Amino acid sequence: GCHDPKKVQEKFKEIISTAPRNSEWTGFNDLFQYEGFWYTPKFLEGLIMAQEEFPAQPNDIILCSAPKTGTTWLKALSFAIMNRACLDDTTNPLLLKTPHECIPFLEIGLFQLKTNRYQEFPLLATHIPFASLPESITSSDCKIVYICRDPKDVLVSLWHFIGNVRAKEKGHFPLEKAFDLFCQGVSLNGPYWDHVLGYWKASLEWPEKILFLKYEELKKEASFHVKRLAKFLSHPFSLDEEREGVVEKIIQLCSFQNLSNLEVNKSGQYALFASLVVENNRYFRKGEVGDWKNCLTEEMKEDLQALMAFKAASDTSSK
Ligand code: A3P
Repeated sequence: GCHDPKKVQEKFKEIISTAPRNSEWTGFNDLFQYEGFWYTPKFLEGLIMAQEEFPAQPNDIILCSAPKTGTTWLKALSFAIMNRACLDDTTNPLLLKTPHECIPFLEIGLFQLKTNRYQEFPLLATHIPFASLPESITSSDCKIVYICRDPKDVLVSLWHFIGNVRAKEKGHFPLEKAFDLFCQGVSLNGPYWDHVLGYWKASLEWPEKILFLKYEELKKEASFHVKRLAKFLSHPFSLDEEREGVVEKIIQLCSFQNLSNLEVNKSGQYALFASLVVENNRYFRKGEVGDWKNCLTEEMKEDLQALMAFKAASDTSSK
């Protein structure tokens, strides 16, 4: 539809005036529940704007993820794959801009600016759960790539991330508190299991529309999954490219080691919204599989695993 900021504002105000809210995570913004998931106000407003107005094009590709599952990595890889023909090692924007600037979030509303809707470069990202995606995405031919990650690592990553951006006067944020909230489903774009299950089921139903990736598998077999990703993005590697090591070059360019050591990601910052400026290094912490072992107790691990198994099982039986 056509851009009507007033309509979006009114709908947003109406929603947050009655929505369940929770003030325990960030300390400066409450989380609001909408269509079963929890959001910061800015991301909720952007979600509503996207639902009302996002005009998906058939050749759009939307990178979807819950926060802290490997969004930054997926953005970098997809960007590098799609751009490899026209960029060389020294001119790649990934060297000068955070992946979040190269591929903005749908929720930021940049899609309204014509400049960001280049036909030949149709990558966007979102944390919106499958069931709440704008209809133009689900009903059109555009493609979706989803990445998920071990919930234990997601929780630990999220706890560190929030601890850093949390209002100082709110004081220390105990991991036990984060764990309880996460297990209640109250986390950024949570419940996490519903986020994953929504895309998982959709990917089984529409395998040609949705590619489902796992952080741990991408780590373990990068080359295999990066080739799969390139093929899905309609930019498959040619045999010559494979022989010349282009796949490995892209993996290397987008590696945690390389990206996190770039000046832009060490000392730069990027404004997701005018009111939300995040230091780029916040997106690069350890980039490892299994760091939860340094934080969660054995009991927390068991509880979270049991919860995930229970949710997955009850979800299948309700189908
Ligand atoms: P950790 O906190 O466990 O280190 P998101 O990008 O969705 O916000 O997720 C952030 C997580 O991905 C962080 O996890 C971060 O370190 C990790 N990460 C960022 N860039 C990465 C990369 N290039 N390769 C692997 N992991 C990466």
